[in-house]
Amino acid sequence: MNITMNDMLRKIPLFSELDEDELQAVAALANRIDTPKKNIVVQEDEPGESLYIILSGEVKVSSYTMDGREIVLALLGKGSFFGEMSLLDEEPRSATVTTMQDSKFAHIRRRDLVPLLLKQPAITLKFLADAAARLRRTSRVLGRISSMDVPHRLYAYLIEHCQRFSQQDSEGWCTTVLPTHQLLADQLSTSRETISRAISALKKKEILVQGNGRGQMRVDVDELECMLEDFE
Ligand code: CMP
Repeated sequence: MNITMNDMLRKIPLFSELDEDELQAVAALANRIDTPKKNIVVQEDEPGESLYIILSGEVKVSSYTMDGREIVLALLGKGSFFGEMSLLDEEPRSATVTTMQDSKFAHIRRRDLVPLLLKQPAITLKFLADAAARLRRTSRVLGRISSMDVPHRLYAYLIEHCQRFSQQDSEGWCTTVLPTHQLLADQLSTSRETISRAISALKKKEILVQGNGRGQMRVDVDELECMLEDFE
């Protein structure tokens, strides 16, 4: 079956308030870009004037310290978007966005999107709500980096990861696939070795247990919450 841009955009939360005609109008403005895994889509400090909507795949949003260390600000998946900041404030790109998997994007240029935003306040409000959620998350993570040791940053990360990507069972466990140790380290501002040690300690205490599926881990979220409360 030939899936049209219209079909793909219908599933994107940003456009959920649009009727069929409006969706058709957005689809006509968008072009599809397929990008293989590990490619830079948007480069920090470069000019940018378009929005990318993630139709499939996953990207990481990173910034780099003066000494070249990568800080991963966010992981974004299907249904999310990026590039809205330069599109709205006309400043250079605030971060580098790299594909983590083979990904498909709908790409819309500023000059096409702005008239739509002016006509459709519902889309503009969703942009703002998403920007607020990203700012809240970044502030939360920054707060933890400045006040918590690495194990507790990891507990907080694992709890949020489970809430976002899976559901807890009646005994407080969830089953999920975790990012690599390097990707966890780049998000929690530490080294891969420190993350590996913290993960091993959780495995020893049977708070992290190998799951049945490929790459799956079972996480005792209730226990992590207790450990985090003890710290706070
Ligand atoms: P833009 O600045 O145009 O290009 C980089 C994009 O990364 C940016 O728009 C946002 O879409 C995204 N981005 C930048 N900072 C963050 C953050 N802290 N959390 C989530 N996404 C971000």
